[in-house]
Amino acid sequence: MRRTLLFIVIAIVLFGAFKFYQTYSMQTRRSSFQLCDHCPPGFEQTADNRCKLSSMYQQFSSLKGKGVGGLQTALPEMHDGFSPQQIDLGRYLFFDPVLSADNSLSCAGCHKPEMGFADGLAHSVGINHRQLKRSAPTLWNVGFLNSFFWDARASSMEEQMSGPLFSPSEMGSTPEKLLAKLNNIDEYRQLFSTAFPGRKKDDTISMLEVCRSLAAFESSLVSLNSRYDHYAMGYHEALSAQEIEGLNIFRSFVARCAECHTPPLFTNQQIAVLGTPEPEGLPLDIGAEKTFRDSTMRAGFKVPTLRNIDKTAPYMHSGVFATLREAVDFYNKGRGHAVPKGEKLYLHWHIWDPKLTDYEIDRVVDFLKTLDDETFTPQVPAHVPSGLKETHTLSAYNQNKNKTE
Ligand code: HEC
Ligand code: HEC
Repeated sequence: MRRTLLFIVIAIVLFGAFKFYQTYSMQTRRSSFQLCDHCPPGFEQTADNRCKLSSMYQQFSSLKGKGVGGLQTALPEMHDGFSPQQIDLGRYLFFDPVLSADNSLSCAGCHKPEMGFADGLAHSVGINHRQLKRSAPTLWNVGFLNSFFWDARASSMEEQMSGPLFSPSEMGSTPEKLLAKLNNIDEYRQLFSTAFPGRKKDDTISMLEVCRSLAAFESSLVSLNSRYDHYAMGYHEALSAQEIEGLNIFRSFVARCAECHTPPLFTNQQIAVLGTPEPEGLPLDIGAEKTFRDSTMRAGFKVPTLRNIDKTAPYMHSGVFATLREAVDFYNKGRGHAVPKGEKLYLHWHIWDPKLTDYEIDRVVDFLKTLDDETFTPQVPAHVPSGLKETHTLSAYNQNKNKTE
């Protein structure tokens, strides 16, 4: 009798201790996810809690009339005006593998901060080890772009996102599945009500809010403070004599790089047909022909930015060039030299044969490296609200795959 009583008392004490631990650990977990209430560097906070870009380039008024490759050219309008809380929530979502169907892959799995927000692969790899057809572009300065993907098939960041999120070969989820998962995580429900204060207390998380938060975070990835920018703002010592030589070749009427890779973003955001090769054995990627149903755009691709280009090898939509020098040398090998036999491509008229010397190619490469600037790299969260591990490595990939959804 006594024994049973003792047993019951011990059981009650243990249960109590367990409950106390559970509540305590929930509280500490919850409090570890507080959204930042100030704007990231490079943004000014307005009175109504929005982050507006603040850049030296905003003092220049026009994109036109400054000559090709002009140093003091204005920036295009940016997709900014998000609140600090939305940006920070987007950061958690970006690094959280819960966004993928099998909890194995986050956006950062293919857009890694330490690799210029690309992934170092010629062809990115989605869930279930499925290889994609193209390489992952950088996300630096995406907030300034007006079309997305190599073939410009999306016209807003919010539209772009449904690509990776719901494509079976990328993150493989569905809107219903994704929202059900997020709404089941207390931390996320709390964070979304902080980031979107207008909603009712028991409102559920919507796809619109997920996309808005991710877009907010992506817009904060601004890179406009490289040595090149210091030079452009008048600090001449920022570049060496050889780098200045490279800049001058880059914007010369011989090389014509700046016609398409126009400063300050180093893209004019247009489509151009270059005739870059595909890796051995792969068919021609028709690129923008499909988007615009226009055969003159066959194998045309969006001019990519060259910001942080030193970090994002391999190069081109197909990742066919392993080094920056190889990528630059492509332009020097003669107009149409890599176009497959029997293909008729409408090559852009600025693609020709500039006959740069080896010395000049090296200087252009020197110059391109001056576009490195990762000052505003956001902090990778130590934990994400789902409690899943970030999957930058294959072992983490396998570990997460076995967890329940
Ligand atoms: C499986 C790898 C992978 C994952 C995961 C992934 N991406 Fe991408 N991302 C790519 C590839 C590859 C492209 C280019 C595809 C194309 O152009 O057809 C791309 C393109 C983009 C672009 C267009 C950039 C530009 O310059 O046009 C943005 C923006 C982007 N991804 C954001 C995201 C976000 C946000 C997530 C998470 C919701 C994400 N990506 C998840 C591989 C990935
Ligand atoms: C007619 C417009 C045009 C001109 C001129 C031009 N480019 Fe490009 N550049 C592009 C396009 C479009 C791509 C993407 C092509 C692809 O993926 O097949 C590209 C890609 C690149 C890349 C790889 C970027 C990446 O993220 O993979 C580098 C580096 C580059 N160009 C440098 C240069 C240099 C240096 C010059 C001058 C010698 C130059 N470009 C001239 C349009 C142009």
